[in-house]
Amino acid sequence: QNLVVKANAPIADIQPTMYGIFFEDINFGADGGIYAELVKNRSFEFYKPLMGWTTAMAPEGVGSVLINNREDAQSANPRYAAIKVNGGQLSMVNEGFRGMGIKANLDYHFSVWARQKEQSNLSLVVELKNAKGEVVGSTTVTPQGTEWKKYTASFKSSQTDAKGQLSVTFKGQGAMDVDMVSLFPGDTWKNRPGGLRADLVQLLADLKPGFLRFPGGCIVEGHDLSVRYQWKKTVGPIEEREMIVNRWNTEFAHRLTPDYYQTFGLGYYEYFLLSEDLGAEPLPIMNCGMACQFNTGEVVPMDQLDPYIQDVLDLIEFANGDVTTQWGKLRADMGHPAPFNLKYVGVGNEQWGTQYIERFVVFEKAIKAKYPNIIVVTGSGPFPDGADFDYAWGELKKMNAEIVDEHYYRSPQWFRDNATRYDSYDRKGPKVFAGEYAAQSVAIASPDNKNNWDCALSEAAFMTGLERNAEVVTLTSYAPLFAHVEAWQWTPDMIWFDNLRSMGTVNYYVQKMYSNNAGHQVVPMLLDGKAITGQEGLYATAALDKETNEVILKLVNTSNQSKTTNVAVEGVKKLASRGKQIVMQADSKDAMNTLDEPTKISPVESVIKVSGNKVNVTLQPMSFTVVRVKK
Ligand code: AHR
Repeated sequence: QNLVVKANAPIADIQPTMYGIFFEDINFGADGGIYAELVKNRSFEFYKPLMGWTTAMAPEGVGSVLINNREDAQSANPRYAAIKVNGGQLSMVNEGFRGMGIKANLDYHFSVWARQKEQSNLSLVVELKNAKGEVVGSTTVTPQGTEWKKYTASFKSSQTDAKGQLSVTFKGQGAMDVDMVSLFPGDTWKNRPGGLRADLVQLLADLKPGFLRFPGGCIVEGHDLSVRYQWKKTVGPIEEREMIVNRWNTEFAHRLTPDYYQTFGLGYYEYFLLSEDLGAEPLPIMNCGMACQFNTGEVVPMDQLDPYIQDVLDLIEFANGDVTTQWGKLRADMGHPAPFNLKYVGVGNEQWGTQYIERFVVFEKAIKAKYPNIIVVTGSGPFPDGADFDYAWGELKKMNAEIVDEHYYRSPQWFRDNATRYDSYDRKGPKVFAGEYAAQSVAIASPDNKNNWDCALSEAAFMTGLERNAEVVTLTSYAPLFAHVEAWQWTPDMIWFDNLRSMGTVNYYVQKMYSNNAGHQVVPMLLDGKAITGQEGLYATAALDKETNEVILKLVNTSNQSKTTNVAVEGVKKLASRGKQIVMQADSKDAMNTLDEPTKISPVESVIKVSGNKVNVTLQPMSFTVVRVKK
């Protein structure tokens, strides 16, 4: 097939935000996932206060564990464990999040808030154990005094085990109160104490994402408004952050996760820091005064929206305000005096109907009045082809909205058919944020959905349409991002992990090929004078990289025949005689990566020869190819 690229006729700039990340604490994405805390229910605030803990004593009856509540004194973290021991020993064992992933020769950092009772001399023997219950590392902590104080101690693990556990044994005579019992590995991302799991962040960093959307998803909304995401409760000292039940706690019967809570160790400060580390624009999505419409549909009356709006304004101050402002000072106190340079704020996740639009109008007006340069992102509901979607778009166009967030969890076929979706979008209307999308191999939210090659290749085909329409589409993100293999509620997901290992799915590598080869300007790429949108299974787009002076071709062959394409690049004097070819291919639509073979299907790079201004690219059956050639 003869294809033509018009390298001197750019259609539009590809925004640096084009390929980003959607983060939500679903599938143990944060607690039990990227947030490296190993102790589950460290502050006894779960619905069942000792969930995750078992107690044992010797001799039997020698002591007791009672959960006390000091709600009046400390409403954010009211419960603590009151321990009594009369001469023997009492142990509390924490099971971790489906076990604790521990590594040989790695340092582990234990901490606890504690106070002795008068006349008491209890010590804590802290032991890391393997799955068999054998001690693989230990230390002892002896709290002093009757005031609450944080104690820390470190030790090494002598073994690697995906199912470790932490035992804390109280020895001696007396009584003691403990809270915030915590254990972190010493290999967190950038070695930050209390930080993030480095292998998972590295997978994100490798994507070189343009933005980081957080904290969701449905958890922005909550089942009801009392458990909506409130950023102010997620900043400041960790022991003062108020934990809430996760929106995905036991949501789907096929994967019960009654132990799913949000401790907010990964809170808004950490999200901003992560965005900065990744070189990604932070994109917080804020509650718009509505709970999840799939659940209660609870809304705040229009005349009581002020606190919700104030939360958005204060967040902008937290991110960008100088250190003399109330919220800017908090950011500085937390360790980041320089502003985070927030540019975008989303209002509402998947909301629809008149209730959403009338609320959005009020938010947008207030945000723009105080921060005219902040770009406000609006939603369009979860049904991309339905009446609600059309209504939202109609209203948002009238309002001249800036960016509209569209979500689609659809079949692979839908993705292939929708490579032309944005060809007809109004170039002068609102920009599009494809904020959540993923091909579903069975059906939306089916537990049987797979991260297979059919889905990933269909997404690659669809994404040619995103890029070709960069004039309209300015931000895109696959969703959901993370899933723990033993604690998920939703599939497919971009990155899967267990307590020690992690892997990018085939969908991850498609995203990576796009984001690592985005380019700066989209140029026409034609077959018989037309955009290449699925003719005999061929999808393609072309871009220019202004920094490296390269032409970038992206070619997707969804057919099961190999194809020889002859790409003539017009508008250049000559191309370099060699370029780079990056190919992803699988022989079966069902092919997938696994934790045992994490890169089985991943991009393979080779040299491609170029003659004059022509590149001959052989596209393997069911393959995605990127070619980069210098002009
Ligand atoms: O990504 C999973 C969920 O899908 C998100 O929380 C929600 O926005 C969408 O319905």
